[in-house]
Amino acid sequence: THCILIGAPVDCGKRRRGCLMGPDAYRTAGLAEAITALGHTVEDRGNLTPDSVTVPDHPNPAVYKLAENIGWTQTLAQAARDAAPHGLPIFLGGDHALALGTVAGMAAHAQTAGRPFFALWLDAHSDIHTPNTTDSGNLHGTPVGYVIGRDGFDGFPPVTAKVDPAHICMIGLRSVDGPEHAALLDMDVDVVDMRRIDEEGIRAPLAAFLDRVAAVDGMLHVSLDVDFLDPSVAPAVGTTVPGGATVREGHLVMEMLCDSGSVTSLDLVELNPFLDDRGKTASLMVDLTASLLGRRVFDRPTRSHG
Ligand code: ARG
Ligand code: MN
Ligand code: MN
Ligand code: MN
Repeated sequence: THCILIGAPVDCGKRRRGCLMGPDAYRTAGLAEAITALGHTVEDRGNLTPDSVTVPDHPNPAVYKLAENIGWTQTLAQAARDAAPHGLPIFLGGDHALALGTVAGMAAHAQTAGRPFFALWLDAHSDIHTPNTTDSGNLHGTPVGYVIGRDGFDGFPPVTAKVDPAHICMIGLRSVDGPEHAALLDMDVDVVDMRRIDEEGIRAPLAAFLDRVAAVDGMLHVSLDVDFLDPSVAPAVGTTVPGGATVREGHLVMEMLCDSGSVTSLDLVELNPFLDDRGKTASLMVDLTASLLGRRVFDRPTRSHG
């Protein structure tokens, strides 16, 4: 696989600063070296800067840094479309607002390629707000709302390839706001909250989703939020929520994704190196990426997940 690293130091999706250091923390933690050690090739396209746009005030006065978020969405959607034909884009965040652009861009690419598009959201949060429903005003809580085509994104680039909610699986949820809960009840997103993980394990729901993707030769975008993981093992994130995925669950998910052969793009988001403990969160994210790209303790013949 040819892996294309795209630095997206987006820090405007929430108020607490530090995610702008994320791309360089991944580089420092040896992401490129870990990927090449697995026999892949790596191309690092460096860090992007957002298009500059001006916008009128938003009717929701809480909305934070609207213009900058729109600029990043434009820039990253284009970067995704440019990179996708040449390899596997890995977007180095940056906070989760970057996914308005990366997911929209990858979905547009899939449409051009004539393949169904799916997204796996590994996160404590559902991020399905709109600029109108968010109380915090932090637009890192809105990327899913944007890519499925919810109203309220005036000023953002129009979503040319809306993602079908039935093609989205969210795993790890344990913090969902009222308006998000209401939106999710109305649609066919596959919601795997922590209770389901406790009751069914993480393998069965993921396997069912991956089977659906494979059945139609779908392109799968994976958006990995650091807060998917438990804060005890991944402290470098502004929005910690107790009771997250373990290191072992994280690796199992990544290994299953590797076996599926369906993953065509990846976001690594919400790493705030300012909050890290001697680089342990950055290193864990690199190790998880390595598992996704084929690192194994023992090789096993690939089995079906069903
Ligand atoms: N739902 C909360 C909000 O809208 C938290 C969003 C957290 N999102 C994230 N990408 N970490 O403010
Ligand atoms: Mn998120
Ligand atoms: Mn989150
Ligand atoms: Mn809210």
